[in-house]
Amino acid sequence: MIQFPHTFLWGAATSAHQVEGNNTNNDWWEWEQKGGGKEPSGLACRSYDLYSQDFDLARELNHNAHRLSVEWSRIEPREGEFSQKEIKHYRNLIHCLREHSLEPVVTLHHFTNPIWFANKGAWANRRADRYFLPFVEKIVEELSDDVRYWVTINEPMVYSYHSYILGVWPPQVKSVFKAQGVTDNLARGHIAAYRCIHDIYRKRNLPAPMVSIAKNAQAFVACQPSLRNKFGVYMRNKHFNLDFIDRIKRHSALDYIGINYYSRSLVDVDSFSPYDLFVGGCKKNHSALAKNSLGWDIYPQGLYDILLAYQKYNLPQFILENGICTDDDSQRWNFIRDHLINLGRAMDQGVKVLGYIYWSLLDNYEWDKGFAPRFGLIEVDYATYKRTVRDSARKFSDVCKRGVLS
Ligand code: BGC
Repeated sequence: MIQFPHTFLWGAATSAHQVEGNNTNNDWWEWEQKGGGKEPSGLACRSYDLYSQDFDLARELNHNAHRLSVEWSRIEPREGEFSQKEIKHYRNLIHCLREHSLEPVVTLHHFTNPIWFANKGAWANRRADRYFLPFVEKIVEELSDDVRYWVTINEPMVYSYHSYILGVWPPQVKSVFKAQGVTDNLARGHIAAYRCIHDIYRKRNLPAPMVSIAKNAQAFVACQPSLRNKFGVYMRNKHFNLDFIDRIKRHSALDYIGINYYSRSLVDVDSFSPYDLFVGGCKKNHSALAKNSLGWDIYPQGLYDILLAYQKYNLPQFILENGICTDDDSQRWNFIRDHLINLGRAMDQGVKVLGYIYWSLLDNYEWDKGFAPRFGLIEVDYATYKRTVRDSARKFSDVCKRGVLS
């Protein structure tokens, strides 16, 4: 039996573009209209209109927290022009969370950029932080009374990897050099946002906020234990899991470590060339592990390894995303249970964990993969937008209610 602390935050996450629908002012929408990705996001889950229904369900499922993102391109559709209507929308939404006794965890940037910012090169622009900051300042001023937990940037390394190395997300660039610049600019953006958020709370005499990024962490495992592969594991772990955190920690710009954990990544490198060690060479999946519907290995032990590896930072950790896409709901509950067991093992080793947020509350728009992957605790029928609570959600709900996994 695992007993979680009574202050533990339990919930599920979404992001604006993946659930709201009609996010017409961002670079993803523009890219989708030109045929990018599998299918356009369109109305997504219609959560822009249906959010209070979604929060009813989250509450019914005994969640006490909810992570979501505010959409920059709605709030600042043109540079320097803020939409009062959209700000009000997000204020209402945060109030609604509070009314449902759901602790808001608010992300400021979850992969999408306003078109005007994309036209300036988005995060490839060295001045990106200066464009990001007025939006941060505006929305944090508006929501600070009701929000304590902030996530500045969701998965900076995943963003630069998909958009600037693999080139499968807009703006579809393939340049390791550019990607490094993007990562640097995202780090600067985070640090500036971190300071801005803290300044606002200080000026307003509010209790100190908790600010972090959502760091996608991967468990890197060597295919065969050759020297080359072991070195590859070391380099990838350092580059992907640690460097960004090291850097923002050096600037004292982290109050907790936000972790998104899904899977492991097998490392099988063909040479000691920098490209192979960091990026390429990982083609074959030799593993016999069960997989999600996108073919990712299910590897709960990795969560334990990551939590222990991050213990050196001496900060509380917070699981901001952990989830599975599957058409077999019993696989979802097994996934959650096995990850919670590993979370409990890490806590037994002294790791301080603030909460566990499942990805995702709802089935939603899985970026370039479209609507097929089903990550939701709640099923969405895309013809009617009807929500149906899955069995796995009820099992998870029992853990949320009792704070105990038996
Ligand atoms: C992202 C989500 C995404 C999920 C599943 C995370 O990388 O933050 O937006 O839907 O993984 O792929």
